[in-house]
Amino acid sequence: SRSNYAEVLGSRYPTDSATNITPAIISKLPLRLHTKPDHPLNTLRTKIESHYADFAHLSSFSPLVTPFKNFDELAFPADHPGRSVTDSYYVNRDLMLRTHTSAHEVEVFGQGETKWLLTADVYRRDEIDGSHYPVFHQMEGARIFDASPTGMKEVEDDNERLSYHLAQSNIIIEDIPHISPTNPSQATHDPRHSELVAKNLKLSLNSLMLTLFGGATRDEPLRVRWIEAYFPFTSPSFEVEVFFRGKWLEILGSGVVRQSTLDTAKVPNKIGWAFGLGLERIAMILFSIPDIRLFWSEDQRFLSQFTHGQINTFKPYSRYPSCFKDVSFWAPQPEGLHENDFCDLVRDVASDLVEDVKKIDSFVHPKTNRTSLCYRINYRSMDRSLSNEEVNEIQAVVVARLKDQFGVEIR
Ligand code: PHE
Repeated sequence: SRSNYAEVLGSRYPTDSATNITPAIISKLPLRLHTKPDHPLNTLRTKIESHYADFAHLSSFSPLVTPFKNFDELAFPADHPGRSVTDSYYVNRDLMLRTHTSAHEVEVFGQGETKWLLTADVYRRDEIDGSHYPVFHQMEGARIFDASPTGMKEVEDDNERLSYHLAQSNIIIEDIPHISPTNPSQATHDPRHSELVAKNLKLSLNSLMLTLFGGATRDEPLRVRWIEAYFPFTSPSFEVEVFFRGKWLEILGSGVVRQSTLDTAKVPNKIGWAFGLGLERIAMILFSIPDIRLFWSEDQRFLSQFTHGQINTFKPYSRYPSCFKDVSFWAPQPEGLHENDFCDLVRDVASDLVEDVKKIDSFVHPKTNRTSLCYRINYRSMDRSLSNEEVNEIQAVVVARLKDQFGVEIR
């Protein structure tokens, strides 16, 4: 049975049919790992902030936002899948956990900031494995200029400064056009302005990639590639990938800020760019952290390996054995059971003892038309050995809650 209120960050909110936030998620909200002393996410944040030394550095915005702010203000269409309760966490219909730091763009531009970084925890319902966690951290960066000859002169001067710096550096950039028919400038923009701003965005981020990945001891050049992208709140839009330790890694999304964002923020005479990057993915690479759950570890064998401001290689301590349990059931009819609902239930029961969840079988019974699902849950603690009895107890709670909450029939 579900109470009619949820207590989140010290306040009570009425719940409704959209409510899907779980105690496991609520418990993460006050932790703010990106501000925790010596934590790798904090070190990475600081490194990016030092690169953008003359930007405002913001990091204290509440994760609770309206869907309007997370989606509508940024021109997400009404039917965008991110809005659904299977993809995002809702306290109730009118209040959700931000899914990206872009949710604060209008607010920050509206405060008159023209160069800023904002770091925050963001929340998305997702599968369970070593690189997905329903809470992660993003950093938004933005810079806007006066849409005037003076403003464009500022962009040109900055482009010249950055081009000069990059020309001295050991970097190979695979570029694409700043503007193209499939990645157009906005109707309200002078295409020459849009071109200059997109170029500034690219130069600025190429330089950031050098700071993050172009260690002084490398002898190979750093390879960065630009890819056409789509976001409802930027055009043109780009993704950046970096070739690191033999693989292309997706690092960030970016683009020229949609004019309606700046109009809503009451700075209509500006033009500029924004980017958003995920801190965990970059930190996992830079610190060689093999599992995303480790960022949440309280174990001294993890925490004591890091010192503020230092990027060092994590030395894994012995992995405790894992233990898997399968559960097979008939999904409720006709609604079925969404994988994200299954995963949140498991996370809520097992918290960080669950390492991954895989669907290993699914079929529709030819006569009854019922769907049978089988999931394999892999349990492992980061900090200790789990006993089989303990895992059986957890699994029994998962099974009981599957029956209670979703009305499944266990096979
Ligand atoms: N908010 C986007 C995401 O989470 C990233 C982004 C930020 C894209 C700013 C463009 C501009 O995927």
